[in-house]
Amino acid sequence: MTREIAATQEARRGAFSSRLVFIFAAIGSAVGLGNIWRFPYVAYDNGGGAFILPYLVALLTAGIPFLYLDYAVGHRNRGSAPLSFARMHARAEFIGWWQTGICAVIAVYYAAIIGWSLRYMFLSVDKGWGADPAQFFTGQFLQMADPALGVTLDFVPGIVVPLIVIWVAVIAIMALGVQKGVGATSVIFIPVLVVAFVILVVQALLLPGAIDGLDALFTPNWSALGDTAVWAAAFGQIFFSLSIGFGIMITYASYAGRRTDMTGSGLVVGFANSGFELLCGIGVFAALGFMAQAAGVEVSEVVASGIGLAFVAFPTIISEAPAGAFLGVLFFASLILAGITSLVSILEVVISAIRDKFEMTRIGATMVVSLPLAVVSITLFGTTSTLTVLDIMDNFINKFGILLVAVVSMLVVAWVLRGLPTLASHLNAYGSIPVKGWWTLLIAFFVPIVLGFVLAQELRDTLAKTYGGYPEWMVAVFGWGIAAAVIVVGALVTMVRWRPDTPMEIPAASLEAQP
Ligand code: ALA
Repeated sequence: MTREIAATQEARRGAFSSRLVFIFAAIGSAVGLGNIWRFPYVAYDNGGGAFILPYLVALLTAGIPFLYLDYAVGHRNRGSAPLSFARMHARAEFIGWWQTGICAVIAVYYAAIIGWSLRYMFLSVDKGWGADPAQFFTGQFLQMADPALGVTLDFVPGIVVPLIVIWVAVIAIMALGVQKGVGATSVIFIPVLVVAFVILVVQALLLPGAIDGLDALFTPNWSALGDTAVWAAAFGQIFFSLSIGFGIMITYASYAGRRTDMTGSGLVVGFANSGFELLCGIGVFAALGFMAQAAGVEVSEVVASGIGLAFVAFPTIISEAPAGAFLGVLFFASLILAGITSLVSILEVVISAIRDKFEMTRIGATMVVSLPLAVVSITLFGTTSTLTVLDIMDNFINKFGILLVAVVSMLVVAWVLRGLPTLASHLNAYGSIPVKGWWTLLIAFFVPIVLGFVLAQELRDTLAKTYGGYPEWMVAVFGWGIAAAVIVVGALVTMVRWRPDTPMEIPAASLEAQP
């Protein structure tokens, strides 16, 4: 492909204006709901301080190396996930559509949690959840129906309205394009988020009892290291939290300048994300320590499940802490900012894939993708059955979506396409961290074996009993059904022809970047 065609294609697809914007966008994607409400709970539940070790092992052996794989695939092939895989081999395109489908599924429930945060930010001001936040969350707020009733279609205005606001805001950002929308949002939101969160953590550390919370988080339980479930949780957390394996980092890398140092950037993104995640753990557990002391119970007794941790424990703290309203607004504003920059990246995977494949303007593709997803999101998650559907979808799409496609993509790239040497030399052309044999060993052997083992265990456990004790048909539809549907739809879209002005060969300028 000539330079001119490559330049035209790049102008049409959009790009980040600098390496800094690319790094901000990647951190914006990585730092999300997974860091703030998921990590603290997962860490606590999986051995407290002992979780930190598997977590760091997972970050260094799988997280950063897989981030490099995503970066290399997207940066060298200059395309969305399906286009990048198609440029490696026509038959590999399907992996990209599978990842795109996963993003579409995550987007619909991810928006719902940001919507709850929006409502809770306002509730924080006058502690509108009353004396019993746990009862308020599932009762008055979500008006949760008995899971046995299935999908109710009884809409709850208090969830629908903030959800619509979130979708309108995100659609506006997406319509602005790669630089002015996606990039600029992260450049503005991430520094604000970091400042807000540092204030929050300092405030939390000053609360009486904070130290007990930190003890609970950091006191190691070494026996947990022998438990495979702990390792599974660590690898699962790293993949979701770093936004790797589901097309996001491939898409973002395709918008980075051709001479960008991808390996150095990856290290910054990986450590920034995990640093923020540890900060979240410290802040949340300091607050839980305070809550336990106020109630005169052990910290272990105040820890609720992932979703509950943010929407039950925090309101309790806000009601009791000095300057609680301030802490509450900061906390829920942080969740919203972190959530929006991640939701934007999840949607970008789908919009970018659709634009590469079909003849569509940025605004056209934004609407074609976002409006149906918003309708599904509001229909499924604006009702009294929201929590049940969300729990099932989140569990299945993470395990049998993200982790499964990650294993498949590593095996295909390493063993079928034998693409690792080419990708390594691409990374090394402008990278500041040399990618050598260690990377190949990790991506071709270690990570697929560990993840394959983790998945086999998860499959065995999930088949042994109906997930969460929910109605079997709901688990079949929203769990197994959706995990399978993204594969089938992915295969079908692969059969559609590419728009005529999308060349299938790799842009020459990108090839020139190799030594
Ligand atoms: N990486 C994003 C998160 O942690 C998806 O929420």
